[in-house]
Amino acid sequence: MTDTNKTASLTVPGIAEPIELAMHSGTLGPDVIDVSKLVGKGLFTYDPGFVSTAACDSDLTYIDGDNGVLLHGGYPIEQLAEHSNYLELCYLLLNGELPTKQQAEEFETTITNHTMVHEQLAQFFRGFRRDAHPMAIMCGVVGALSAFYHDSLDIDEEHHRSVTAHRLIAKMPTLAAMSYKYSQGQPFMYPRNDLGYAANFLYMMFGTPCENYEPNPIIAKAMDRIFLLHADHEQNASTSTVRLAGSTGANPFACVAAGIAALWGPSHGGANEAVLNMLAEIGDESRIDEYVAKAKDKDDPFRLMGFGHRVYKNYDPRAKVMQQTCHEVLSELGVEDSPTLKMAQRLEQIALEDPYFVERKLYPNVDFYSGIILKAIGIPEELFTVIFATGRTPGWIAQWNEMISGSYKIGRPRQLYRGPAKRDYTPMAKR
Ligand code: ACO
Repeated sequence: MTDTNKTASLTVPGIAEPIELAMHSGTLGPDVIDVSKLVGKGLFTYDPGFVSTAACDSDLTYIDGDNGVLLHGGYPIEQLAEHSNYLELCYLLLNGELPTKQQAEEFETTITNHTMVHEQLAQFFRGFRRDAHPMAIMCGVVGALSAFYHDSLDIDEEHHRSVTAHRLIAKMPTLAAMSYKYSQGQPFMYPRNDLGYAANFLYMMFGTPCENYEPNPIIAKAMDRIFLLHADHEQNASTSTVRLAGSTGANPFACVAAGIAALWGPSHGGANEAVLNMLAEIGDESRIDEYVAKAKDKDDPFRLMGFGHRVYKNYDPRAKVMQQTCHEVLSELGVEDSPTLKMAQRLEQIALEDPYFVERKLYPNVDFYSGIILKAIGIPEELFTVIFATGRTPGWIAQWNEMISGSYKIGRPRQLYRGPAKRDYTPMAKR
């Protein structure tokens, strides 16, 4: 962040002189007005939903929502999706630069060596009902990881933070697959170190001890790309939750568990599951108009899932890559004429032409096509948000690490109080 020579001037009724507010510039994006000193004048700013508020500085990810741009470390997501891979992006988010060949190999080895989870964690799973939602399980087991790593929870130690980042990135697919296996009543599969990150995840999901299972390389590549497209998205709700929890000095496993809980909601990561539920509910192309009308009806709470975004007022660049990946996967699996895909494409086309969606700049987001791919791969809907959580883990931990390794304050917003003014306690007999 650099201070600009510019200031903003705020005139407040009852304060004689205008208040001069410093302005700061980032590398890209709008300048920000520094309101942190306003409290000294007895004033707060008011911005529910943080729509106009930059809550931190960050070097990791940049989004230009009006033009549909997403950069990680300056690199456009389209280029990363085409030329890079998930672990390379994890390295970039954690280290700020793309790895050399040697660094990439060492990083992959490190992650591979951390994929197994403590055997005691399997006992932890057995405490859940078999029909528990896998996101409920993930909130619990990821938080529980902190109980296994007392040796590396000193957040002021750079090495501890680094090993925790590696553990989280490595163990998330193992835990995700375990939550699926548990729901199926099948044995947990230990990770295989000869497989890449995404292929190993598919193996732990779909392999059984009874027969050989070799992941399809095209599906593994698509899975890797799904993880990559979710890796980070600057200060979204779950990442902001991780930062807020982390600002208290809480341990990183607990912070990421808080992020998983925030991700679960249908307005955020839960939308990928909600898209498939919505398409199933629509059931047939002939009913699309009826559902588009419901989405536009202010008296109906129904929204088109997978449409709209707080920041993108243009096509989500991740959704474009996801759409292309969707065609590749469905063609590989020989199900390109899937009725669900056809319905999704028709719905997209109708919504993109409808003045309601055009005026509000509501475009498909990353979740619109991801569910269709995941379903085609054989991943059950309840697991979709778990896949999102797995992919988002490097973003959460890199953002947490960036905050902890810099200067930060406990996150503590203020409020506009609208409750009763001070009054005396009324004894029960007089109420
Ligand atoms: N369907 C119908 N109308 C919509 C939709 C939608 N999916 N999304 C927004 N709108 C309408 C709103 O009703 C509102 O209309 P109005 O101005 O007439 O009142 C207008 O568009 C603006 O919407 P807001 O809710 O104010 O926008 P906000 O930025 O707060 O919300 C959000 C963004 C939560 C993503 C919203 O678009 C939504 O609920 N989408 C569906 C859920 C979804 O796909 N979530 C995934 C987000 S991406 C991610 O987490 C990876």
